[in-house]
Amino acid sequence: MLGCCFFIAGLGVALATVVTIPQSSYEAARGDNITLPCKFTTTVASPKPIVTWAFVTADGEEQTVVTYYADSGPDVEAAYAGRINLRVSVPTGDVALTIMKLTLQENNKIRCKVQIPKDTSGKGYASTTLVVLVAPSPPVCRIVGTTEYFENINMTCASEEGSPAPTYKWQSYTVNNVPRPNPLKATDVNGLLSLYNISIDTSGFFVCTSQNKIRSATCNVTLAVMPPSMKLGSVGAALIAAAVIGLILAAIGIYCCCCRKRKEQSEEYTMGVAEGEDYHDKEPVENGDRQIESRGKQVEQSPPEHHDRDYDDGHSDYDERRDRYDDRRDDQRDRYDDRRDRYDDRRDDQRDRYDDRRDRYDDRRDRYDDRRDDQRDRYDDRRDDRRNDRRDRYDD
Ligand SMILES: *[C@@H]1O[C@H](CO)[C@@H](O)[C@H](O)[C@H]1NC(C)=O
Ligand SMILES: *[C@@H]1O[C@H](CO)[C@@H](O)[C@H](O)[C@H]1NC(C)=O
Ligand SMILES: *[C@@H]1O[C@H](CO)[C@@H](O)[C@H](O)[C@H]1NC(C)=O
Ligand SMILES: *[C@@H]1O[C@H](CO)[C@@H](O)[C@H](O)[C@H]1NC(C)=O
Repeated sequence: MLGCCFFIAGLGVALATVVTIPQSSYEAARGDNITLPCKFTTTVASPKPIVTWAFVTADGEEQTVVTYYADSGPDVEAAYAGRINLRVSVPTGDVALTIMKLTLQENNKIRCKVQIPKDTSGKGYASTTLVVLVAPSPPVCRIVGTTEYFENINMTCASEEGSPAPTYKWQSYTVNNVPRPNPLKATDVNGLLSLYNISIDTSGFFVCTSQNKIRSATCNVTLAVMPPSMKLGSVGAALIAAAVIGLILAAIGIYCCCCRKRKEQSEEYTMGVAEGEDYHDKEPVENGDRQIESRGKQVEQSPPEHHDRDYDDGHSDYDERRDRYDDRRDDQRDRYDDRRDRYDDRRDDQRDRYDDRRDRYDDRRDRYDDRRDDQRDRYDDRRDDRRNDRRDRYDD
């Protein structure tokens, strides 16, 4: 019997082409490279093989990836241009295929076929399954149905991608986040959790885990079961939301008003500084001269006309500032007048006293006159000094 087997095997080697792929499946993550080994044997000496790698879809259709002709080399399909490397070694029978940057499109059965002219007997191909691994994307949890007492609801859970296809499992937690078994009458069928006759006790957290051989991901949904009368709750929520939006709008409005006011203030400040400089350059010299020439005329003389000539576009802000300046000047002048009156009074007193005693001191009159002149001179000097001082300060 052993000899019989050897005979058959020997016959096969002698008469046919044999193609083999070591493993029934190969795995690689999406984006990675993979090399699928494939070997052939033949009885033909110096064979000129034609090698074809092709995916085989579920309905048996073949999608060629690359065809190798002994005479002309590999012929790569356009869809795989740049991602394919076929290494053919006729003496060793190696025809391994490397696919780079794997996509889910390659998550399929693939066939290695070797045709050798003048050796058409035997099974000239071998197949394997290429598994492109993709971690499950975070699943989406949804509640389907009305979350009120005595209702039946479904909870759905699905990851958009994942390869191999993820499996789903629900875990229930109480409102205090303590794990609990799913309700007795619930069914959990691959991500669809059905809850029947729900009540306040059904409320809690429901966490769905989507898992495949690479990784897992979860989603978490809060179930709050309400008495049927609580339907108004949604209306109340809408009203509260409207009120909150109103408040926010009002706050924004107030904030904008404040901003504008602050901005105006800062603009006023900026312009004030700039004009103040102009003011000092031109004003005090002219005003000082006038003050000395004719103090009385100053009040009637209207500075605004003078300024309007210099500042055709003079605006209210400037006028305000100028008014303040005029006020200050008037104040100063009043104080000056007061002081001068006091001086005059004192001088008059002095003169009266002097006159009273004049008769009695006729002989000393000259001396008195001298002294009075002295005094007046000193007074005038002092007055001029003081006036000049004040004017200088003004200029500064
Ligand atoms: C895939 O192969 C290409 C070319 O040999 C190489 O540049 C790249 O780094 C490989 N990618 C991975 C994930 O190994
Ligand atoms: C829940 O799912 C089951 C099965 O698909 C369906 O028969 C039932 O109508 C669903 N219930 C709700 C509330 O959607
Ligand atoms: C639903 O549950 C309530 C108690 O929570 C029970 O009285 C009622 O009979 C149940 N209804 C059904 C159809 O099982
Ligand atoms: C589910 O969400 C709730 C509230 O957001 C949280 O307290 C709880 O820890 C979460 N559970 C899990 C398993 O993530």
